[in-house]
Amino acid sequence: MSMTTDFPRSAELSGPIVRPFPTGFIWGAATASYQIEGAASEGGRTPSIWDTFSHTAGMTRDGDTGDIADDHYHRMATDVALMADLGLHSYRFSTSWSRVVPTGSGPVNPVGLDFYKRLVDELLAHQITPLITLYHWDLPQVLQDAGGWLHRDTAARFADYAAALAGALGDRVPTWTTLNEPWCSAFLGHAAGVHAPGLRDNAASFTAVHHLLLAHGWGTTALRQTLPATAQVSITLNLAVVRPNSDSDADVDAARAAEGLSNRIFLDPIFEGTYPQDVIADSAAITDWSFVHQGDLAAINVAIDLLGVNYYTPATVAAGTPELRAGHNGVWVNDPNSVSGPTPFPGSDFVYSMPQDGPYTDMGWRIEPGSLTELLMHLHETYPTVPLMITENGAAFPDRRDDDGRVHDDDRVDYLRTHIGAVLDSIEAGADVRGYFAWSLLDNFEWAWGYSKRFGIIYVDFQTQERVLKDSAAWYGEVIANNALTD
Ligand code: FCB
Repeated sequence: MSMTTDFPRSAELSGPIVRPFPTGFIWGAATASYQIEGAASEGGRTPSIWDTFSHTAGMTRDGDTGDIADDHYHRMATDVALMADLGLHSYRFSTSWSRVVPTGSGPVNPVGLDFYKRLVDELLAHQITPLITLYHWDLPQVLQDAGGWLHRDTAARFADYAAALAGALGDRVPTWTTLNEPWCSAFLGHAAGVHAPGLRDNAASFTAVHHLLLAHGWGTTALRQTLPATAQVSITLNLAVVRPNSDSDADVDAARAAEGLSNRIFLDPIFEGTYPQDVIADSAAITDWSFVHQGDLAAINVAIDLLGVNYYTPATVAAGTPELRAGHNGVWVNDPNSVSGPTPFPGSDFVYSMPQDGPYTDMGWRIEPGSLTELLMHLHETYPTVPLMITENGAAFPDRRDDDGRVHDDDRVDYLRTHIGAVLDSIEAGADVRGYFAWSLLDNFEWAWGYSKRFGIIYVDFQTQERVLKDSAAWYGEVIANNALTD
C-alpha cells in the first residue's frame, strides 16, 4: 500500500487559494489626456507644453508625438465599451487644460468641455465611475509662455480651471485629483530637462515644486467651494521607496536626501504645512526659498480625502565616490520617465542611483512587489487617517500579437498578480487602501519614450488603431468579477 498516493495533495484538499478583497474595493484602470486623446488641434484645443516638447527635435524617442496617440478623442465610446467588457468599476482619466480653457485663463471652450461631458455620460451609462485628474503634465503652452510653473499666477489659473470643470461635472464625478506626480513636472521638467518644458535649471525646479503645490492647495479649495459636500478631493504622488546601497553613514544619508526630494518635499507641506528642514538645507546653495510667501503653506496644508499613490519600482542609492563618479553619471534612473540628462536631485548631487538586480520590465525597472507593501504600510503608519488609492501600477513589456492574433502577456499578468497581492498584504495588515487602478487601460504615448513602451492591458495597433484585449485584460477582468485573487 502506498503511503502517499492515497492522500490528496494540499491543493486538492483545499481547492484553489482565494484571497478576497474587502467589499466595495474599487477596481479601475487609468490613462492621461496627452497620452491617449490625439486630436491635438481639433475642437478648439491649443498646444500644451507636451505638444511643443514632443515636436522639438531630439526630445522623444523617434520624434514621436501625441498628435494622434490612441485617437481616443474619436473612439471614446468604443473605448468605454471595452472598459465595460472588463467590468471596470472606475476609470481614471485626465482632462486637457488646453482643450477646456484653450487660452489658459478666461473663457471655457464649450466644444472641449463637451468632450468630457460626453465621456462622463458614457461612463455612467455603463455604471463606470469617473475619477478626474485635472493636471497630468500638459500645461497650456500659452501659460508656459507667461512663465509656466515659475510664475505664481499659474497656480491661480489652475484653481480657476478646476472650478470651471467642477461646476460643469461636479454633480456626476465623485472623485477629483488636482495633480498627477508633481515630482515629474518639477524635477524631470525643470531640472533634468527630460520632460516638458525641458528646462535644466535647478533653482527653477524648486520654484516649480512650490507653485505646483500652491496650485494643489488653491485648486482643492476651489473644488470644495464648487463640488457637492460628498465629493472627494485628492492628489496623486509617485512616492519613492529608497534604499541605501550599504549601511554606511554616507549611503544612509544619500537615501535620506533622495527620499526627502522625492516624497517629503510634497508630503510634508500637504499634511504638515511645512517644508522638510533637511531638504531646505540641502538646497541652500541653489535657492533661498523666497518664493514661499506668507500663508502659502497654510493654503497647501488643506485637508484632502484621499491620497493617490503611483508605484512602479523601488530605488537603491549610494553616496558618490570617485569610482562611482568615474563610471556613472548620477542620472536618477528610478523615475519612470528618466531617459538621460542631469540629475533631477538638485542640491543632492552626491546621490547616485545604483543599478538594481532583476527581474526587470521593458523600462529596465526592477520588479519588486514587496516594496509596494512597504510603501503602503509606511503611509498608513505615518498618516493613519488618510485613505489610500493606488492610482497607477503596471508594467511595460515588449508585447507582440501572436499568430492567433492575441497578445499573450504572461509577464504582465505576473506583475499585476504580485502587485495586487502586495496591496492585499497591506490591507490585511491594516492599511486603508480603497482601490487599485491599473496603468494603463491602453498602450499609449509614453512621454519621452514615445510609442516604444507598451503599458496597456489593451494592445493598440498604432497604424490601424485596432484594440486587442491582452491576456492580462482577461485576467484582470476575472479578478474584478471575483473581487479576489485566485491561485
Ligand atoms: C507615470 C505617469 C504615467 C505613465 C507611467 C508609466 O509616471 O504618471 O503617465 O507614464 O508613469
